[in-house]
Amino acid sequence: MSTAAIKPRPTTEDDITAEVLRRFDGTEDPRLKQIMQSLVKHIHAFLKDVQLTEAEWWKGIEFLTQTGQMCDDRRQEFILLSDTMGVSMVTDLISNRKPAGATESTVFGPFHREGAPHKEYGDSIIGADRHGEICYCYGRVLDLNGNPIAGAELDVWQAAADGLYDVQDSSLQEMNMRGKFLTGQDGRYLVKTTRPVAYQIPSDGPVGRMLKATNRHPWRPAHIHFVVSAPGFEKVTTHVFDSIDKYLDGDAVFGVKNSLIAEFPTHTTRDDAARRFGAEPPFCTCEFDFVLVPKK
Ligand code: BEZ
Ligand code: FE
Repeated sequence: MSTAAIKPRPTTEDDITAEVLRRFDGTEDPRLKQIMQSLVKHIHAFLKDVQLTEAEWWKGIEFLTQTGQMCDDRRQEFILLSDTMGVSMVTDLISNRKPAGATESTVFGPFHREGAPHKEYGDSIIGADRHGEICYCYGRVLDLNGNPIAGAELDVWQAAADGLYDVQDSSLQEMNMRGKFLTGQDGRYLVKTTRPVAYQIPSDGPVGRMLKATNRHPWRPAHIHFVVSAPGFEKVTTHVFDSIDKYLDGDAVFGVKNSLIAEFPTHTTRDDAARRFGAEPPFCTCEFDFVLVPKK
């Protein structure tokens, strides 16, 4: 036996864990060191907990490989995986603790696009989508004291009435159901859109197979997406959910928060709202005020 073979080496599972942790001891960035060592601890604990077999390890590698292969500039399967595992929402909750009264954030999702067209107060974001109930979504952007914020930007996006985002449906015109609105001096905004519908998250890839294999459904409750920002304030990434949606309690990506649920009343006569918005009944409305937190 050579002398090299006499030296004690990590041989048990726990020895390997300790040795991997030690290898990260020299990481200069303390935050990176904390993240890497904690990640190793948790992954190793998981392997030991489930006693992962080599065949299962291979399946996991294949799954992650397919997840990556599914990603391009129109499809983000890794975000979808994060969303369906609740990782996005736990991260959201940790990162976005807000004072009482401030609009809460929720999952960003994979369907935001840069460069949505700028719109005027009351403009429509309905492009090629000819279906769906017309909806006037309106309200104010306020500070924590209830004062209007002028010049706040609302980046709005939504699935069309068939439940698809423009990036999922090549028949839809570019930037369908998207727009950027600015509030006026009174902090008000008005978006003409369609009533949002519940839709299924994309399930034709590895994440869909994971949901199927675990007997989970792919539905999200009806919602409109907003990123609301203003100079001097923290931006908020959020949704407004329809209060009558049957999936509010079972959102496939865990994004529902009570404060984000709003009513979408239907108007069937030429009432005050019809006059105010110049709308032809039937249509629905959704009133929602966004409250921003000042930047620290
Ligand atoms: C969305 O609301 O657009 C969304 C969020 C998470 C996963 C899939 C879609
Ligand atoms: Fe969505």
